[in-house]
Amino acid sequence: MDDVLIIDDLTKSFGATPVLSGVTLTLKRGQILGLAGENGAGKSTLANLISGRLKADSGSIRLNGSCYVLPQEFSLIPTLTVCDNIFLGRERSRFGVLDTRAMCRRAKELFAELGCAIDPERMASTLSVAEKQMTEIAKSLLFDSNLLILDEPTTVLSRQETEKLFSLLRQLRDKGTAIIFVTHKLDEMLSLCDEVAVLRDGVLVSQNKTSGLTPYDVACKMVGRNLAQAFPEKTIVPEDAPVRFVVEHLSSADGLVKDVSFFIRRGEILGLAGLAGAGRTELAETICCLRKRKKKSGVIRIDGKVLTAQTPQKIFHSGISCLSEDRQGTALLTEQTVYENITLTSLLQKYSSWGIVSKKKQICSAQEYIKLFRIKCESPEVAVSGLSGGNQQKVALAKGLDTDPVVFLFDEPTRGVDVGARREIYDFIHELAAQGVSCLLISSDLQEIIGNCTRVLVMHNGTIRGEVSGNDISEENIILYAAGVK
Ligand SMILES: Nc1ncnc2c1ncn2[C@@H]1O[C@H](COP(=O)(O)OP(=O)(O)OP(=O)(O)O)[C@@H](O)[C@H]1O
Ligand SMILES: [Mg+2]
Repeated sequence: MDDVLIIDDLTKSFGATPVLSGVTLTLKRGQILGLAGENGAGKSTLANLISGRLKADSGSIRLNGSCYVLPQEFSLIPTLTVCDNIFLGRERSRFGVLDTRAMCRRAKELFAELGCAIDPERMASTLSVAEKQMTEIAKSLLFDSNLLILDEPTTVLSRQETEKLFSLLRQLRDKGTAIIFVTHKLDEMLSLCDEVAVLRDGVLVSQNKTSGLTPYDVACKMVGRNLAQAFPEKTIVPEDAPVRFVVEHLSSADGLVKDVSFFIRRGEILGLAGLAGAGRTELAETICCLRKRKKKSGVIRIDGKVLTAQTPQKIFHSGISCLSEDRQGTALLTEQTVYENITLTSLLQKYSSWGIVSKKKQICSAQEYIKLFRIKCESPEVAVSGLSGGNQQKVALAKGLDTDPVVFLFDEPTRGVDVGARREIYDFIHELAAQGVSCLLISSDLQEIIGNCTRVLVMHNGTIRGEVSGNDISEENIILYAAGVK
């Protein structure tokens, strides 16, 4: 019996909303299946049905053997160490005593194979987003399962890290593990997977062999129509455009940002590249005092005026917005509603008079953002936790906009966002720039940076290592700086 997974006519609804209808699919031993689909198409729901976390309304799922799902949103327990998290529920013991040393050693080996040096004894709460992702990956690889489902595991990884993960996955496949790989990075999907299945609005519209498929083909199947170019036309800013945002000799108290200086012109989209751990997110967080990241020294200026604010709230009201890469950690209150999240930061300024908050105004404004970004949700009054990952990202974006910023720091703005919506977000960033907002685009996706920016800073080890602009912007040039070679 070669089939690991047989799904027949599967149907699932949440309340009155159908999420999956009539899904039929089989997966053999040693096969890697890519699962593509727009935000909200039902990918994560399908993964949760297979793993048994959700129950189907009708249809059947037959699983030969065991299954492990690496979830789209992290599930690490912050108060445990990395090692404890990895082995949670399947601890090794010797003579009835937990063999912590052996577990740590195994975790270390695995991190080495993945090309990242995380100390297994660190507390999970101290991990960066990329490190959390690596820990989740390590956890999934340690399970000896017949079916491994990875729900968007590479959204914050660099190409090098992704390649290392892929070579481990290929080894697992060669040993007979079946793998379902969910991602919006279609070129990655095609390089790893044997077959690609596409979900559109809960219906499996195709399942094809990978050979001969292009990312464009898959994208068109996802949306059911022909697609526009991946990137909008670049926003060119004249050399003499006024400088709007200046950072001089900025260092953070924890030493992760060291003597960083740069500027952004009015209406410019400045790219910020670098490998995981280079300090890009830390830089954005230091500017905004997010996550208690303190500034040690340095000056920040907006339109010539020195920024004196010391709390995130005050900084947001001074005209800087930040879309954090850590959607669930700092960007959103997922148990609260869509409208509450969107209007959270500007509640006092925009939605209340004499200390009374107008829910009507909040909802009205939320509805406009829902239309603008095509956020898929039943109403502004549903909890953010019920939205698909990509739609949560759009809510975070709306929240950042609602304070009417003049400087917008985008940290991985298209993390987990599908191709169609990705283009919408790019259009949106260019539109903001056209209105004079200075944008910083932080991304681990080099194509995204190359496609949108006319000037790119590259960070390495906490400092700005180099700058490329115009025709010099290429993957090679950026990587040389990012790796600290140039
Ligand atoms: N617990 C829930 N309660 C209500 N609706 C839900 C719940 N979970 C998911 N949904 C809805 O089901 C639909 C499919 O969501 P799912 O998370 O499967 O999408 P997805 O394909 O994984 O999208 P993404 O690419 O954004 O991660 C969405 O419209 C979502 O709002
Ligand atoms: Mg999902």
